[in-house]
Amino acid sequence: MSEIKPYRDSTAGKKEQVATMFDRIAPKYDFLNHTLSFGIDKIWRRKAIRLIAKYTPATILDVATGTGDFAIAALKSGAKKITGIDISKEMVAIGQDKIKKMGLEERIVLMTGDSEAIQFPDRSFDAATVAFGVRNFENLSVGLKELFRVLKQGGILCVLEFSKPRNPLVRFGYNFYSNNLMPWLGRKISGDPAAYTYLPESVQGFPDGENFITFMRKSGFDKIREYRLTFGIATIYIGEKV
Ligand SMILES: C[S@@+](CC[C@H](N)C(=O)[O-])C[C@H]1O[C@@H](n2cnc3c(N)ncnc32)[C@H](O)[C@@H]1O
Repeated sequence: MSEIKPYRDSTAGKKEQVATMFDRIAPKYDFLNHTLSFGIDKIWRRKAIRLIAKYTPATILDVATGTGDFAIAALKSGAKKITGIDISKEMVAIGQDKIKKMGLEERIVLMTGDSEAIQFPDRSFDAATVAFGVRNFENLSVGLKELFRVLKQGGILCVLEFSKPRNPLVRFGYNFYSNNLMPWLGRKISGDPAAYTYLPESVQGFPDGENFITFMRKSGFDKIREYRLTFGIATIYIGEKV
């Protein structure tokens, strides 16, 4: 999983390459994100927030927050304070700007930070969220264990991530789109030839369904549920720290 990196010719580690890639595409990220997913990502995010809201968390840590879209959407859960961390300085800078313009600085704070060495003490948050981020972690187990550590007892982790559709017809259509059209469009718009080739490759190489649930369980999470979205193109996983 960690062998799938954005830049084939680079000898840098996955974390460094991922940070470089997101720094490069940051100015175009929001536009590309919503365009390439035809806006469906917004529906998936809303569904995840509705599931989180049931747990009425007062504090949320949004890991791999990027430009802060999930952190902003998470306000709808009723949380009082949302903290977002990301390894890409440029993504965070764009997110901070957005939050300032929206006048949300009192409730959302974004900063740089690494999922594999989270800068907060044990048992700091009621909920943790990761939207389209776990696939990019250099070491998934370390990241999940860190998320478990910073949650309070009774806290929940909500992960939203791409998965592999099981229906052969849907899989065929999805693979055609993500292996051909998406890299072409991504290259044209983002200016980084590797970024949108890495996306489908990293989805293919990433554990989904039961395999991802096993990673969560091994990291300490319990009562894990999965919600497959849009023919299984994405999945929401929720686990508890009991
Ligand atoms: C596809 S973006 C998702 C951003 C945002 N969560 C969203 O839903 O739009 C993935 C993000 O994961 C971040 N990331 C990757 N590895 C990370 C790590 N180890 N710690 C923190 N952030 C990481 C990247 O910098 C990037 O901003």
